[in-house]
Amino acid sequence: MVGAMSTPDIASFDPFAGPPQLHGARRFGVRPGTELIHPLAVSGERPLRFEVAGLPDGLTVDGDGIVRGVAPAGPGEHALVVTATNALGAIVEPVTLCLGDTLALTPPMGWNSWNVYGATVSAEVVLAVAQAMVDTGMRDLGYSYINIDDFWHASARSADGRPLTNPETFPGGIAPVAERVHQLGLKLGIYSDAAELTCGGCFGSLGHEQVDAAAYAEWGVDLLKYDYCHAPVGRDAAIERYGAMGRALAEADRSIVFSVCEWGLRQPWRWAADLGGSLWRTTPDIFDSYSWLPLGVRGLAARNVKLNRYARPGHWNDPDMLLVGNRGRGRSTGELRLPKGPRPKVWSFRGISDVQAHSHMTLWAMMAAPLLTSHDLASTGEFDRRLLTNPEILAINQDELGVQARKVSPRFRPWVLAKPLADGSLAVSITNMGRRTRRVSLPLGEVGWAGDAEVRDVWRMRDVGRLDRLDVELAPFASVAYVCRQTD
Ligand code: GLA
Repeated sequence: MVGAMSTPDIASFDPFAGPPQLHGARRFGVRPGTELIHPLAVSGERPLRFEVAGLPDGLTVDGDGIVRGVAPAGPGEHALVVTATNALGAIVEPVTLCLGDTLALTPPMGWNSWNVYGATVSAEVVLAVAQAMVDTGMRDLGYSYINIDDFWHASARSADGRPLTNPETFPGGIAPVAERVHQLGLKLGIYSDAAELTCGGCFGSLGHEQVDAAAYAEWGVDLLKYDYCHAPVGRDAAIERYGAMGRALAEADRSIVFSVCEWGLRQPWRWAADLGGSLWRTTPDIFDSYSWLPLGVRGLAARNVKLNRYARPGHWNDPDMLLVGNRGRGRSTGELRLPKGPRPKVWSFRGISDVQAHSHMTLWAMMAAPLLTSHDLASTGEFDRRLLTNPEILAINQDELGVQARKVSPRFRPWVLAKPLADGSLAVSITNMGRRTRRVSLPLGEVGWAGDAEVRDVWRMRDVGRLDRLDVELAPFASVAYVCRQTD
């Protein structure tokens, strides 16, 4: 019997200890001729020394393992070899730099301001979070985006139509924030809406797509989340409005990841990629609940899991942010922080438990979902820290094959998800979606694996042995995750 568990017993990983290990994306890229900022994501005892062989002219690696510079003007792939050394050892690993129009070759990992700061986001908050991303070692595990959501705006644009920031919360504008975030080896995201107003009532980008995209590029923005409040219901209008911003971003002199946020209401998985979208929300906003309703973890997972065939490198289904780190406070969307108006009762939740958070992280990782946290990174609780910094579950999420797990099990049984990985191994998770303890005995043949496998327990970071089936007892709502490798 492997993996019998009533409370999640998961490994703790210290990103600042041990010999060097490479995490994060093995394939990454930018558009030719634009700025690249790519943290190599290497954990291990400091100091670490980095060398990258094969870097084209214009790009260098700095002392923190950040590959920077302006990429060559021609499209194509560059095979690089990363060497990272510390007092305890060295690694030599291949990675691929892809110069082309497809960005976000693995699901974006990082942070978004909305669920934690809502309308109170500020330059100060963003810079503190960016610093915490480095200090906690999360950057060295592959988290790289610091995304400013709604409410960075001034009350109006400039007289000539340019976007302006709130003079109190972003007194120097976005550019100095982006500069500092880039110095830290991270990337900056921003937010707008395909209408006159954003969801929070700030100015949107409708009719200003070019001027806004050009401003974002000039400020050094690396990702745009483009919302759809106050916009027409129909799909054609959405395609037109997202198309206009997609074109404006493509014309801007910077690689800006385009994150489509119309909550999956118009099947964006069918059209957003063609408009330049790298990720698209498939669901309404997540709330701090394990509900099957389309606002809780199970409800969002049930919608998102069916869309696996649309996910691929550069194009991801987005079932919204992680609650990990921000749960248990009875809220999870910053709409509760709107400056005015009553707080509807329906939005108060007890919050998901440790076991449920463990399953949430397992499902999001297996579904190749973007992994965006939304909490104060400097004060992550110990269990949630373990969930967010397990390098083996993150490696499944970031695997370069870019396949979203397929749900293998019939409808009401524990969910079995299977995700093929680039090296020929197979990630398998089993999640008890219900409140009764379940025993599962899963022959590996049922997930398409022939013969025995060397099985590794991902969350415990332990080899389990050579098996032809997975036998587990799952506590209510619990998950296990394994990687099955070829036997010698
Ligand atoms: C919508 C989005 C959220 C957030 C808010 C901001 O609700 O779905 O993720 O961006 O708007 O107002």
